[in-house]
Amino acid sequence: MSILDDAKQLVQGAAQAGMEKAVAAAPDSWIPGGEPDPLLRRKHGHVGQPLSRLDGPLKVAGAATFAAEFAMEGMAYASVACSIIAKGRITRIDTAAAEAAPGVVLVLTHRNAPRLEPLPLFMTAQKAAGGDKVPVLQDDRIHWNGQPIAVVLAETQEEADHAKSLIRVDYAAEEAVTDFEAAAAHGTKPAAFMGHPLHDEVGDAEAAVADAPVRVDATYTSPPHNHNPIEPHAVTLAWQGDTLRIHDAQQAVAHGAWTLAQVFGLPEENVVVTSPFVGGGFGSKTIWQHHVIAAMAARVAKRPVRLRLSREDVYRLVGGRSPTRQRVALGATAEGRLTALVHTGVTAKTPHNVMPEPFILPTRSAYATETMLLDVQQVELDMLGNTFMRAPGEAVGTFALESALDELAHALGMDPIELRIRNEPEKDPVSGLPFSSRHIVEAWRAGAERFGWSKRDSRPGARREGEWLVGMGCATATYPYYRMPGGAARLTLTADGRATIDIAAHEMGMGTSTAQTQIAADRLGLSMDQVRFNYGDSTLPGVVLAGGSQQTAAIGASVAAAYDALVAELLKLAGNDSPLAGLKADEIESRDGGLCKHDEPDRFESYASILARSRREEVVVEATPSMPLETQHWSMHSHGAMFCEVRVNAVTGEPRVSRFLGSFDCGRIINPKTASSQFRGGIIMGLGLALMEETQFDARKGRILNPSLAEYHVPVHLDVPEIDVIWTDIPDPRAPAGARGVGEIGITGTGAAVANAIFNATGKRVRDLPITLDKLMG
Ligand code: MOS
Repeated sequence: MSILDDAKQLVQGAAQAGMEKAVAAAPDSWIPGGEPDPLLRRKHGHVGQPLSRLDGPLKVAGAATFAAEFAMEGMAYASVACSIIAKGRITRIDTAAAEAAPGVVLVLTHRNAPRLEPLPLFMTAQKAAGGDKVPVLQDDRIHWNGQPIAVVLAETQEEADHAKSLIRVDYAAEEAVTDFEAAAAHGTKPAAFMGHPLHDEVGDAEAAVADAPVRVDATYTSPPHNHNPIEPHAVTLAWQGDTLRIHDAQQAVAHGAWTLAQVFGLPEENVVVTSPFVGGGFGSKTIWQHHVIAAMAARVAKRPVRLRLSREDVYRLVGGRSPTRQRVALGATAEGRLTALVHTGVTAKTPHNVMPEPFILPTRSAYATETMLLDVQQVELDMLGNTFMRAPGEAVGTFALESALDELAHALGMDPIELRIRNEPEKDPVSGLPFSSRHIVEAWRAGAERFGWSKRDSRPGARREGEWLVGMGCATATYPYYRMPGGAARLTLTADGRATIDIAAHEMGMGTSTAQTQIAADRLGLSMDQVRFNYGDSTLPGVVLAGGSQQTAAIGASVAAAYDALVAELLKLAGNDSPLAGLKADEIESRDGGLCKHDEPDRFESYASILARSRREEVVVEATPSMPLETQHWSMHSHGAMFCEVRVNAVTGEPRVSRFLGSFDCGRIINPKTASSQFRGGIIMGLGLALMEETQFDARKGRILNPSLAEYHVPVHLDVPEIDVIWTDIPDPRAPAGARGVGEIGITGTGAAVANAIFNATGKRVRDLPITLDKLMG
């Protein structure tokens, strides 16, 4: 059985068990059969306020402790040596000089490392979080150029790094598959994502393209990309008896604890992962080989270990986005109605992971069309296991789709915004489900007005200012609403009327802890300083992934479920002497530090009073929300309209983005300040995708050639113009607190908006990312 079959069975099994349980459970308010979240009934004090981050002062003062900053008594420092061939065997590894070097505690290779199980791969079980399943220092086999082959522990980092340089290795290299295009020419296989084939068909789209009066048929390519969070990956860890205690940089603490427990054959509770602050995750901060290497070294050395990856190590050990070659073919009537939408292509993965870049995902729900053909094929390369990266699928998928829409608008002689609006679907084109909330037309209209779209000259190359050609382009942004199963939260209310929420969730810089405190404060009728939000610890309730832009929904639903449990408990405690006597839970809401009848706010009793009368110091409840049934009944997506103005130097080809506007429709915006940062950060990553980012992968050796920020270019301040962001703020009645995700959508559509603006400026259509000046010269 293949990994994918395993994954499919597990996911389906879990989904089925969950759904059965969900049917028995009382429905949450926003799911089918329920009313929208009661929080949306009236305006509250905190949600919607642009509050500064609660952890801002700590971070500014340098007092927020990150994974590589925890100190442990007697700690040794680790340095990892990596393979320089892509495939083959280690025939000799000489560690004598390294072992004799000053300060060295231990050198581990496949010859003396403890025997362990491989990492359970992400998506193959609910809590699996491993990036690849290559055994960690278990045998002499090499699977990618950069695979860890040894680790040195020493008294200082410098001694460990120096000793590592003394290790001598001989290899028997074997022929590796490292050339994407050559591999694709040899044949491809259908790709599946999270147990589902990446293939959809509505009617005969190829025939409809051939018959269409107006058509576009083009190929778009994107290079591999690597992760570059500002904080490189790191662990500081120790074995305390049989318990492995890890300070980690992690976006999935509960998954991480379970995953490492499988590797070491431990009960899950014997691995404790904490991650109070993370310097960016973006899909990369799951479990990779360095966790296993550090933990095994600590076990053998019987000492705490700190292993912090260098920037280069992140490129060798932590996967990123794999390359894509995508075809988009559109057929339309002369009036600009789509009759056919074909989005197909090929991507790469490895034999040791399960992550084909799912670039057709954004296309499924995008446009009304009579026929559709979506398909992803894959080839397997001998390379580092690729993974989730900054809107996986949507980031590069919308580049192809939304570039093609622009090409069609040009072919039709039609405004690209009007073309998109003309093809707005009534319901989800593939699933047939109604949309929960889709206000993309409002986003387009508001964005166009604010950006000054009417001033655009639709003739390419028409506007020149000195040496600079100036153009405007636009594109649709889109990212799905997810709420993954597994959420749970504990809510503690104390006699002084304060509340504490405990949930195994994450703050990676997004503002999660601030936004969630706002929601919880409004739900509980408390002030911000009366609510404490504890997260980032695998011993807390819940299995919450900070990924898929779904934390706001997953935490929000968990806290709402805990709140409902708290209300039920408080009504029992309130008894017959309370103004609340006789009320049912669904008649209750919170205000001013207590409960009231929602349509009769004077029937009120404070938390402090309820607890005092029942002689309770505290009330503690823990609850699990319903399964995410809302996503089975509605097509749920965040939307955006992206506008770009670009200046291209007519002499040198240099492209400079001069203005950018994102106009979003993401449901209720919980915190305009932190949400703006999310939108802007996403757009900046989109500018990198459009103009700079490219992993130089040497197909001869399978080696990444630019593993540093000096050579792998990301946008810096001078590359980024002022970015304007606006939003509809229309609550989604099917999402907790009315909020859909805001984390990743900014990365989507941006690449195409830039490419389309460059076409408008120059008449040059670049379909090959990144759009560097060499592609624009002459
Ligand atoms: Mo993200 S790529 O869902 O962390």
